[in-house]
Amino acid sequence: SNVDDNEMQFIKMHEYLTDLYHHVLMHTKEGETALEYLEDRGFTPEIIRREKIGIAPSMKDFTKNALTEKGFSLEMAYQAGLISRNEEAFTYYDRFSSRIMIPILNHQGYNVGYTARSLDGREPKYLNTPETAIFQKRRLLYNLNDARKAIRSHDEVILMEGHLDIVKVKMTAVQNVVGLMGTALSDEHIRMLHRLASNVTLMFDGDGAGQNAQLSLGETLLEAGLDVFIISLPKGMDPDEYIEQKGCEAFEDLVRSEKRHYIHFKAEHLLEESMNNDMAFSTNLKTLTGHMKFVKDEVIRERLIQHISQLYKIDAKSLGQNIPAPAKKSN
Ligand code: UTP
Ligand code: MN
Ligand code: MN
Ligand code: MN
Ligand code: MN
Repeated sequence: SNVDDNEMQFIKMHEYLTDLYHHVLMHTKEGETALEYLEDRGFTPEIIRREKIGIAPSMKDFTKNALTEKGFSLEMAYQAGLISRNEEAFTYYDRFSSRIMIPILNHQGYNVGYTARSLDGREPKYLNTPETAIFQKRRLLYNLNDARKAIRSHDEVILMEGHLDIVKVKMTAVQNVVGLMGTALSDEHIRMLHRLASNVTLMFDGDGAGQNAQLSLGETLLEAGLDVFIISLPKGMDPDEYIEQKGCEAFEDLVRSEKRHYIHFKAEHLLEESMNNDMAFSTNLKTLTGHMKFVKDEVIRERLIQHISQLYKIDAKSLGQNIPAPAKKSN
């Protein structure tokens, strides 16, 4: 994909502002509260520097003035999602203020947007760059450029919910992590994941929302022909909190040792309902055997049959016979 002149100008504005926001965070009074907040959460100056995390100060025209002084066009900055516009007065004002600025790079390593965390409790907690010519959520996987090598060498990509989860994980030995912009998984994302690795591991927050997202995204990815695994976190914890409470090594161990196949995870998820409800028992088993046709690896299939037959207390052989013929390889 080629970058045209306008797009390169958008990227230059981002790169200029990212350095500026980072400088304000690290070296000025305006950044003190935010820097303390980040350090209290366990983010070291090294990782803050490496990720070029910054602060958009609590002013209405800091960004606008900085861009003007540097000779950038405000109309273009508006198109790049960096400032807002009052449509009646046709005046510009800052879109991001009082927010921690986390730069988002595209797959080529160009800075194309931000996710910005509010510092003063103001909603939304995270404000993202809007859709622009260079920032298209359906095409972005956060941290892909940095994670690519590790993804290739493990043949595995670990998908997480939160941007700061990924930043924190980058402080550990686990490097093959990427994030969606929100929880919507697009066809473009699926194609990108397919090209990168054959295994996708979902490690979402240990709450209801995270579990539901894993169940639904996992099914989509499985049906797209990927092998899908789940790492479950303790109730109420996300990867960042897990690392803060248990440390990097415990996290690395978890990633190494606690990987359930999607169908195994789902079998456990559906078990309680199935045991007390004979009708659900039958439909849930059909759901599980239906998923099995997407598993091409014989060893994994065999193992899943063992898991499910033990969990559901049914004969492994008859379970195996109920699995529909394997799906033809798609994509
Ligand atoms: P969480 O609420 O779990 O946030 O939302 P978090 O990443 O743990 O944030 P901290 O630790 O409180 O700072 C998970 C993800 O959902 C998206 C963001 O990508 C966030 O990282 N999100 C959440 C938004 O886009 N907007 C929001 O207002 C909230
Ligand atoms: Mn959450
Ligand atoms: Mn969190
Ligand atoms: Mn979270
Ligand atoms: Mn640590």
